[in-house]
Amino acid sequence: MIANEIRKKFISFFTASPRNHQEIPSASLIPENDPSSLFTSSGMQPLITNLLGEKHPLGTRLVDSQKCFRSQDIEEVGDNSHTTFFEMLGNWSLGDYFKKEQLPWNFKFLTEELKLDPKRLYVTVFEGNPSVPKDTVSIEIWKEIFAGAGIRALEGERIFAYPAQKNWWSRSGEPEKMPPGEPGGPDSEVFFDFGEKLHLHERSIYAKEKCHPNCGGGRFMEIANSVFMQYQKMPDGMLKELPQKNVDFGGGLERMAAATNDNPDIFQTDLFSEIIATIEKVTGKEYSNESNKPAIRIIADHLKAATFMAAEGLEPGNKQQGYVLRRLLRRATVKLRFLTNTSPDMEQFQPIVESVLHAYKGTTYFDKVNSQAIEKIIGPELLKFTKSLDKGLKEVQKISQISGKIAFDLYQTFGFPLEITAELFAQKGQQIDRQQFEAEFRKHQELSRTTAKGVFKGGLADHSEKTTALHTATHLLQQALKNILNYAVRQKGSHITAERLRFDFSYPQKLTPEKLQKVEALVNQKIKENLPVTMEIMTLNEAIKSGASTVPGAHYPEKVKVYTIQGFSKEVCGGPHADFTGRLGSFKIIKEEAAGTENRRIYASLTS
Ligand code: SER
Repeated sequence: MIANEIRKKFISFFTASPRNHQEIPSASLIPENDPSSLFTSSGMQPLITNLLGEKHPLGTRLVDSQKCFRSQDIEEVGDNSHTTFFEMLGNWSLGDYFKKEQLPWNFKFLTEELKLDPKRLYVTVFEGNPSVPKDTVSIEIWKEIFAGAGIRALEGERIFAYPAQKNWWSRSGEPEKMPPGEPGGPDSEVFFDFGEKLHLHERSIYAKEKCHPNCGGGRFMEIANSVFMQYQKMPDGMLKELPQKNVDFGGGLERMAAATNDNPDIFQTDLFSEIIATIEKVTGKEYSNESNKPAIRIIADHLKAATFMAAEGLEPGNKQQGYVLRRLLRRATVKLRFLTNTSPDMEQFQPIVESVLHAYKGTTYFDKVNSQAIEKIIGPELLKFTKSLDKGLKEVQKISQISGKIAFDLYQTFGFPLEITAELFAQKGQQIDRQQFEAEFRKHQELSRTTAKGVFKGGLADHSEKTTALHTATHLLQQALKNILNYAVRQKGSHITAERLRFDFSYPQKLTPEKLQKVEALVNQKIKENLPVTMEIMTLNEAIKSGASTVPGAHYPEKVKVYTIQGFSKEVCGGPHADFTGRLGSFKIIKEEAAGTENRRIYASLTS
């Protein structure tokens, strides 16, 4: 079955009676006003406030397909199931239905809509810990479900209980790792069995073990995850029951498609096949040749992820999301360079980008952009790096002795993976000190982890008083810019940490110090006036008619929240916000700079 069909089936299955879910559009890949992560990496991320109890404009039953990016998987891409970009099909109960509805619906979808053979489905549940009991409720429900399909499901044979490391879900993992404020809960996963022969195949270190869903041998693939999100971590380290019991379901679309194809290679689903065919064409290398597969998969995944990011206006850069985009483009360029032994050019990149757009033609993801706009963002970066790569290769030829440290520098600077450097020097009869390389690599990993922790630091600091205040200040800033610059400023991006706000907006030139000072003064005046901030739910059309600002390129549901700062600003926004502007403190612009060629960026903070 093709993935574009599965996506549609999932949405119709959950919107149909008796399930009656409302469809919500995919949120942006780059989360707005959420300092806890660089990218949207799961369907629940844009719904955190609702899982914690805030009402959602569309009610208590939601369904969607969410664009996701997981940078932690970047090194894993190359095998048959890892990607950095993927789509997550999701359905949610916000304090509405729970296990006894979710598990049978999930099974019905997999077996009746996707027509997966129930005999090839295996399930897992949480085995319990000192504070949360074993999920015997789900075990009983699963037994009944399988019995309905004529299968006697025994624990240890069809139903497996695992510890928190496997069957507890929160954005940060097991309960001990959850920061205060973070929601999470036990989960129940469904695995598809691709057959015994695969257990001996991809990761053969497990070849001699008795196989089970989580043994990682390549035979079983997780295709569905129902999280029973009913706990929240408290500052004292305890788990507290949330006021509402939620269901947070997520299933990887590409993996579901692989299961329906009975082929574990997700790169052979329709969401990749056309992109792979294009890569074969522009490189002259065949995917069916095992030695080409890892490189072709990396090129396909990375250029797909880069295309989605560029479509949202992200530009390659040295920090945060921009750096991730740059890394994706560089890794893809290195792979193309070594696959063909020639310098890649736009004649290769362009058709690949176009094939990504084409693979998603049944969706709205690329409605607001065309391939030229995307190529304009990523083209210069690719070409610049191609030149640097050529130079790097020449440098490499000159080095007579390659230490592990130099190998790591090449990896860092030019994106040369160790195996490629090793290959080049093996030709010259050299051997690389792998231990030294790995020591450097670990140092770097530790550094990235610390950086990631820095990003995550606040956990739900995004909804702390400080970030909420900065969010409201961002609305004041947008309106103040409109008034002072006398220009129809549009929001191009927003990112808030506990320390500052960052706001990107359309404006063709640098702001003069006088203008900046006036903007700052107007925001402070509105704070002083202590204006009430109110929220109303209305249709998107009503919101636009009422003069509320929207973010260009964003996909909105039919019903939206509109936040009004009395007599001053009106914006469609997910919230949350301060109730009165007087709570914000003193507003200060820290910096103004260019953000790409057509937009400006302002950093600002609040002090009490
Ligand atoms: N949040 C869970 C996941 O990402 C289920 O949606 O797997």
